[in-house]
Amino acid sequence: MPTSMNEVMEVIRRYAPKNFAPKVGMILGSGLSSIAERIEHPVSIPFQAIPGLHGGSVAGHASLMVMGVLDGVPVICMRGRLHVYEGTPYDAIRTFVRIIKHMGCHSVLITGAVGSLRAEVGAGEIVMVDDHINFQPGNPLVGPNDESEGPRFFGLEEAYDVGLQDIMAAAAERLDITLHRGVYISVLGPSFETPAEIRAFRMWGADVVGMSVVPEVIVARHCGLRVACLAAVTNLAVGLSEEKLSHEGTLHFGELAAKKLVKLIPEFVKGAAEYGMV
Ligand code: HPA
Repeated sequence: MPTSMNEVMEVIRRYAPKNFAPKVGMILGSGLSSIAERIEHPVSIPFQAIPGLHGGSVAGHASLMVMGVLDGVPVICMRGRLHVYEGTPYDAIRTFVRIIKHMGCHSVLITGAVGSLRAEVGAGEIVMVDDHINFQPGNPLVGPNDESEGPRFFGLEEAYDVGLQDIMAAAAERLDITLHRGVYISVLGPSFETPAEIRAFRMWGADVVGMSVVPEVIVARHCGLRVACLAAVTNLAVGLSEEKLSHEGTLHFGELAAKKLVKLIPEFVKGAAEYGMV
């Protein structure tokens, strides 16, 4: 039985501050969740208290849904996420993203750690994702379609909202943060790629590789959320450098990128609120 969103929202409303009307949802990945610490008047719900979700099992992920105010804008922030490689059923990933819509948000900002396929874009850099290649062996919408959420078939030609990209680029410029753009290829993980896979992905036009983001983007677009996505480069993809890849390295370099995101995300949220884009 798919998780009932009514049941999910009933639980969340029990925790939510009175008259809380968030404008933007955020999903923050490995080592990137320090932004949530800037949220004022936070009210947190552990993922495992929400029907259909689990607590997550990845080091560096807090697994909390935080409701509060970021620089004057009411937001929801998912600190941590559920990955398909953890054995998370697609039902949980659908629920996880749809909560943001059911709370009343129109936009979601998704962040994640990635390896870079471009030698000139190294650890600590930020890439604004403008398209993706779904190389995970599945799609989170497989199974009966819930028509109340979105249509059975829908397009992904503008999966990453152009208006939100403009607002993000302007925010980065104001802060003097270099913002690269690129295509995200999603792999299932948890093993990192082989050098041959990375060579193939480069030929396909991918710029960064990661183990998350894409299932969430697909669910978000299905239910009509506008999507912006920032990828934090934690390493050069395998074969592009001598460094051995590790989750510890992901967390360390995630912190470097997080220092930029802690400034960029609130600036983006403010800009998006000003333009009425959220
Ligand atoms: N590959 C896949 N996922 C990742 C990587 C990588 O090199 N770095 C951070 N997440």
